[in-house]
This record gives sequence, structure tokens and C-alpha cells, in this order.
Amino acid sequence: MEFKELGNSGTKIPVLGLGTWGIGGFSSRHLGGEDDDVRALKLGLDLEMRFIDTAEIYARGHSEEVVAQAVKSQRENVFIATKVSPENLQYDDVIRSCESSLKRLETSFIDLYQIHWPNTSIPVAETMKAMERLVAEGKIRHIGVSNFSVRQTREAQEALSKSTLASNQVEFSLVDRSIEEDLLPYAEKQHITVIAYSPIARGQISKGGRNESWQMLDQIASKYSKTKAQVALNWLIAKKPVVAIPKAASLDHVRENAGAAGWQMSQADYEALNQAFK
Ligand SMILES: NC(=O)c1ccc[n+]([C@@H]2O[C@H](COP(=O)([O-])OP(=O)(O)OC[C@H]3O[C@@H](n4cnc5c(N)ncnc54)[C@H](OP(=O)(O)O)[C@@H]3O)[C@@H](O)[C@H]2O)c1
Repeated sequence: MEFKELGNSGTKIPVLGLGTWGIGGFSSRHLGGEDDDVRALKLGLDLEMRFIDTAEIYARGHSEEVVAQAVKSQRENVFIATKVSPENLQYDDVIRSCESSLKRLETSFIDLYQIHWPNTSIPVAETMKAMERLVAEGKIRHIGVSNFSVRQTREAQEALSKSTLASNQVEFSLVDRSIEEDLLPYAEKQHITVIAYSPIARGQISKGGRNESWQMLDQIASKYSKTKAQVALNWLIAKKPVVAIPKAASLDHVRENAGAAGWQMSQADYEALNQAFK
């Protein structure tokens, strides 16, 4: 597995992590499927994707509980990122949400604590004050945001006095490249890691299509003996500030996604993909 520095923190994280939207359930707790979910996460960890992204809202907390089962006995070797929901961004609520996530994750610290979505009715300075208290108490190691625009990212950075903003988690894939306009160059300049979510467009990329863009993806995939999903993930992590967190509950998908790292396509093929999916 390849690694990249998280922001300018000195901490290295794998370029591929494990998403968990759907692990333990989606918008409600799904009881009974835990063994399969734990097996998928553990396989991902065995394949060196030692970075799990979850959130307090996923499966109403059950996703964090399933993550706890998967990392048991190897907590120190896994980078765990979770998120506080936008309705919980007032000072006391951030502290309370973090304590609840720590309990569900059965851990004494969270590696990366992210604001899941901005909430314009709560000043980001208030949220960041609570985040910095959590860092000081050793309950979280790094502070990140998610779904923040460039302006909101800058405000979040300015609201921090003792820490630097480590990351912004946003949608980014071959079929959704909107962040390339402004957020991606901004993040690169500011040494903020971009965590690409829905990196295979919720499975859509592996299904492909009939037009010239998809034909180009097919061609490049067969040239390197890779799948479409592997090429699409490799294209993302080839960008300096970007790491990606595909979610896979199927063991075959987990294995396939792990094979997206550790190789490089030529500059010409990278550019050809850029043009094909413009
Ligand atoms: N911050 C945010 O607001 C936000 C929003 C969305 C997502 N996220 C995070 O990002 C993670 C990933 O995004 P996502 O779950 O929306 O989408 P995704 O990772 O692009 O796609 C997941 C879907 O693709 C399938 N899949 C996975 N690997 C595959 C492969 N190699 N070939 C074919 N299909 C494959 C999965 O099926 P199986 O599960 O059946 O294997 C699942 O249905 C989430 O799980 C979550 O942690 C964050």
C-alpha cells in the first residue's frame, strides 16, 4: 500500500481507505448482518487499507459499532475517521457526540474527527473551539471537515488557533469532477488532504456505459489488466492531495479495490482519461 501525509501533520495514511455507508445499515440500524460486514472490513485491513471512514449518523451509530468489532485487537494499527453531524456543531454537542462515538468505537481516541456537513447557523469558530479542546484532551488526533466549499474551508482554517485543518472529505470521481475547479487546487496549495468519497460513483463506474468516455476507460483497463473501478481509483490517487475511501461489503469488491494502488498508468493514459471524462 502507498501512503500520503495527512495534511501537514506528519501522520501517514494509506491512499485507499474503507468507506462504511451501508456497513451496519444505511439510515437505520440493520441488525443481523454484522458478521459479513466485519469480515469485509477485516479483509480490507488485511489488504493494508488500514483507514476506515465512518460517521455518527451512519446506521444511527451502528456503523461505528461494527467498525469497533472489526478493529478489535488491532486498534493501534488502524486510522479511524468519523464525523460529527451538522445538527451537533454547538460546543457542548460536539463534545457529547465525540464521547458517544468513542464509546461506540470502543476506543480512547479518534484519529480524524470531521464536521460532516457545514451548518451556517452555527459559527464554525464555536465548533472548532470544541474540536481543539478534544485534541488537547487526547480524544481526537486530527481535525477535518467534509462537504466544505473553498470559502468554508478557509473559514474553518482561520477558526483554528492551535491545530491546522487536516482534510476535507468531498465527492470526487471520474464522473463527478466539480472540485477540480477550485477546491482541489486550493487544498493542494494549503496542504489539506482531499478524501474522495463515492470514488466509484456508488458502483456506477464499474458498470460503465457505451459512449466514448467509457470505451476509453475500458481500453485503459484492459491495457493494464485492471478493472474499471481499479483504474478510476488509481486516477484519483494519482492526484497529489487525494486519497479515496471506496465502500465495499462484498469480499470480491474489497480485493478488487485494494488492487487499485501500487501501480501507475502512463502520463498519456492519465491525460486521455482526463479528456474522456471532461
Ligand atoms: N462525507 C460525506 O458526506 C459522504 C457522502 C457519501 C459517502 N461518504 C463516504 O464515502 C464512502 C464511499 O462512498 P459511497 O459508499 O457513497 O460510494 P462508492 O464507494 O463509490 O460505491 C460503493 C458501492 O459500489 C460497490 N462497489 C464497491 N467496490 C466495487 C467494485 N470494485 N466493483 C463494483 N462495485 C463496487 C459497493 O457494493 P458492495 O458494498 O456490495 O460491495 C457499493 O454498492 C462511504 O461509504 C462513506 O464512508 C461520505
